[in-house]
Amino acid sequence: MRTTYRTHTCGDLRAEHAGTEVTLCGWVHARRDQGGVLFLDLRDRYGLTQVTFRGDRDAALLAAAERVRPEWVVRATGLVAARPSEAVNPDRATGEIEVEAHALVVLSEAATPPIPVDEHAAVSTELRLRHRYMDLRRPALTHTVGARARIAGTVRRHLEAQGFLDIETPTLIRSTPEGARDYLVPSRVRPGTCYALPQSPQLFKQLLMVAGQDRYYQLARCYRDEDLRADRQPEFTQVDLEASFVTEEDIFALLEPLVRDLVRTWRGTQLPDPLPRMTYAEAMERFGSDKPDLRNPLELVDLAGVAGALGFAPFTSTLESGGRVKGLRVPGGSALSRKDLDGLEREARSMGAPGLAWTKLAEGKPSGPLARFLGGEGAAAFLAATGLEDGDLLLTAAGDDTLVHRVLGGLRLLVGAKLGLVDESRNEVLWVTDFPLFAWDEEHQRIDAQHHPFTSPASDQLEAFFAAAKGSAEDRKALCGTLRSRAYDLVMNGVEIGGGSIRIHRQDVQQTVFALLGISESEVERRFGWFVEALRYGTPPHGGIALGLDRLVMCLIGASTIQDVIAFPKTSSAADLLCGAPASVDDAQMHELHLAWDLPQEDAPTSAD
Ligand code: AMO
Repeated sequence: MRTTYRTHTCGDLRAEHAGTEVTLCGWVHARRDQGGVLFLDLRDRYGLTQVTFRGDRDAALLAAAERVRPEWVVRATGLVAARPSEAVNPDRATGEIEVEAHALVVLSEAATPPIPVDEHAAVSTELRLRHRYMDLRRPALTHTVGARARIAGTVRRHLEAQGFLDIETPTLIRSTPEGARDYLVPSRVRPGTCYALPQSPQLFKQLLMVAGQDRYYQLARCYRDEDLRADRQPEFTQVDLEASFVTEEDIFALLEPLVRDLVRTWRGTQLPDPLPRMTYAEAMERFGSDKPDLRNPLELVDLAGVAGALGFAPFTSTLESGGRVKGLRVPGGSALSRKDLDGLEREARSMGAPGLAWTKLAEGKPSGPLARFLGGEGAAAFLAATGLEDGDLLLTAAGDDTLVHRVLGGLRLLVGAKLGLVDESRNEVLWVTDFPLFAWDEEHQRIDAQHHPFTSPASDQLEAFFAAAKGSAEDRKALCGTLRSRAYDLVMNGVEIGGGSIRIHRQDVQQTVFALLGISESEVERRFGWFVEALRYGTPPHGGIALGLDRLVMCLIGASTIQDVIAFPKTSSAADLLCGAPASVDDAQMHELHLAWDLPQEDAPTSAD
């Protein structure tokens, strides 16, 4: 990459350049002073090159080079020379050559670096984030930033080749219903009102379909004020798309070549064509999760038919009240110590289980809390149903569907990781389909949309769907568990990398969804009137999906946290340590917005903030 300043980058030079005069620019990565000879490793985004200064050739130049310190920005000119064979560095792309310098210009001096630009230095995450521009100089992060850009490029090329138009949607909007809290931006011009930052471009992309744009995509910035985890950021990017006159099959066919291409390039895995699909119901039954990691071989077994005969009261009473009893057989799990099992029990309790009933089988003899119920009549049938063999462990859970699946699904992940059962060399990508249309919110005693209220009910259940709206409150609650939607997720190695649905384009269906969700006509009008009105003027059948770009990049390059794939990420408490956001603002700004804080004393910002 030749520029006015340089002829080559620090990653360009090879043995065939020997004898060429070159000029390089870069940061001083390392300097080795061998008395009379000084080596500077120059670093830029592209690599590292060794530049050599010899006192016997030019003492003044050597003296100038000796002044240089780490992270100074310099420009060096010299002749490329092949290194003697014993000095070749096979770990470095430029390791066959060095540049014998005959000129050096210091472009910029550097204060002592706040953190070393070094992969292995033990530096706290806080300090790294505070000086992210220094951390980004590290080759590993430089690689990640580049990988993300290339992945985004591949996404764009695939979608544009399929006729998708990149159309921007606004980011100062009215709130969209994606389920999380909104970030709000107060308006100066209309005091007392706020914009919301979009949780996704959902409604605007649907309007683009109403507007006849047929195929839309965007790498869209989304904002959600929710509890953060290793794969969540308050501000993240979606590969968001929508298409008209499509069904699920069309969306899958549009996405799959892209996903296969990315996974082949970045993971070296040739995924099956078509990608496997699994219904939500099957994923929950077998894996206790709607984003199953299929690299983990453990599966849940239903023990409803055999658990009642053991005489173990929690099983009996759960089954009598219509609940579920399920187990997780862990081959070789008897290797787990009592301490490990106590740890698993604590985890089960934190997921809502009252305790953890387990048994190990060794030389045909069961041990553990369930053992004393495994001597009687029903024991043989119970053990046969679990498939338990010598050396195995059985973990069980009893309760309603949600609890049993949450607990055993969670334990499946913990035990799989602990025993090293997950085959990290594999890559498993699948569609999870037929999500429930609604979820029952026990706390507020109301029906919620599982995805969002614009998702179509399953085509084969439309009659039941309309009937539900006319039924009693009890009927509606019961229906929550039975109505399926046309929503789907894309899951890679246990991570939800995307979600979407076929949308409602019929007004009677949309009105019925609102009615079932208990959203009154006036509330619909107030919250989404602007959107619902548009659906009246000729809406094509349409659907789409959004892939979480950050999560996709994480999975493709094998990063362990989402922060690693974002150039300037936030902490787990949604703070930007680099610019110090969020921060208090000037009184004048507050005044202009007609805002005043109403804080409990302990939360009041201090001058230190
Ligand atoms: P959904 O809410 O499922 O769907 O989001 C789509 C994808 O976005 C990613 N994602 C996140 N990534 C990082 N941090 C977060 N806080 C975060 N939240 C979500 C996930 C997820 O699968 N409008 C719909 C899409 C549609 O129906 O077309 C939507 O936003 O990878």
